[in-house]
Amino acid sequence: RLNAKITALGGYVPPGIRTNAWLSDISDTSDEWILKRTGIRERRILANDLGTSDMVVEAVQNLLMKAEITVEEIACLIVATSTPDMPMPSTANIVCRKLGIKQTFGFDINAACSGFLYALSLGASLVESCRYKNVIVVGADKMSSVLNKYDRTTNILFGDGAAAVLLQSSTEKAGVMDSILEGNGEGMEFLNIEGGGSRYPASMETLLSKKHFIKQEGRVVFRNAIAKMVKVCRNLLEQNQLSIKDISWFVPHQANLRIIEAVGKELGIENEKILTNVQYYGNTTAATIPLCLWDYEATIKKGDLLLLTTFGAGFTWGATLIKW
Ligand code: ACO
Repeated sequence: RLNAKITALGGYVPPGIRTNAWLSDISDTSDEWILKRTGIRERRILANDLGTSDMVVEAVQNLLMKAEITVEEIACLIVATSTPDMPMPSTANIVCRKLGIKQTFGFDINAACSGFLYALSLGASLVESCRYKNVIVVGADKMSSVLNKYDRTTNILFGDGAAAVLLQSSTEKAGVMDSILEGNGEGMEFLNIEGGGSRYPASMETLLSKKHFIKQEGRVVFRNAIAKMVKVCRNLLEQNQLSIKDISWFVPHQANLRIIEAVGKELGIENEKILTNVQYYGNTTAATIPLCLWDYEATIKKGDLLLLTTFGAGFTWGATLIKW
């Protein structure tokens, strides 16, 4: 059996930094509150005149510098995002034009923060099917485009970024080993962007009622995120007859350090094995997990077993096991 292995990583975060001090100047919050409740120190913000596709282009170019393939050899490009450049064409399609890719099966996936794990599983299946040789999976979001920067219940949490992985087939017993991906829509009123789609198309009314901004019930999301990630990780470990002690690195969705610590504690994983970068990027939605892999590329060694887990709007959630 051929496995789908991650053979290269690339990432991009914009240079603009939004600090806790800046947020405290424009809304009723403080560095102390944000650090204590979220662990976030700063986030990266993309320039207003650029879109998600511009970050994807940077991340893919960064990946191609390290990969042993050229642009022409990309057979499939999957972009997980909730903040596409526009409703159509897809961000993946726009990226093909910007990178000069002429014939690629490219499309977007939206599963909010869970988008990357959903896309990774799909990309791995395409490689395992032997129909696609070089599949690039990207997680990318320009969350600043949907943030009300004066709303302290959301402005402190989110940032912009993109990261990409190259999946190639391998005869080694390594790669994307197994996943459990779930979702049910039952929490859709607790975390969403209502406006701009077919239900509430842009109008003066949607603008005035702020429907184009992300909104959430933080406490409900917080509770569900911990419960769902713990359960799905336990189920995935059990399904593979593994224990948490077998895991070399735990890579959770980076939304809030308190959520990460609570999940780690319930699963019984040592703090040293938990990879985090939420402190510097905030929650970049679909980009958090690949950005974390990219940041810790030098730390993760061949043969290491990684447990990835995520939770996002919908709700959607999941977990994936990767042998590096
Ligand atoms: N600064 C100062 N005070 C604040 C702020 C702020 N930014 N936000 C809320 N408060 C106040 C509240 O008004 C409340 O005051 P009160 O006690 O007088 O009523 C108090 O602080 C506590 O508020 P809570 O909402 O209970 O604070 P909590 O500890 O739950 O932290 C937070 C809020 C950080 C939003 C947390 O609930 C959280 O991280 N939730 C999950 C968010 C998340 O992960 N979302 C993304 C999911 S992934 C995706 O798909 C996008």
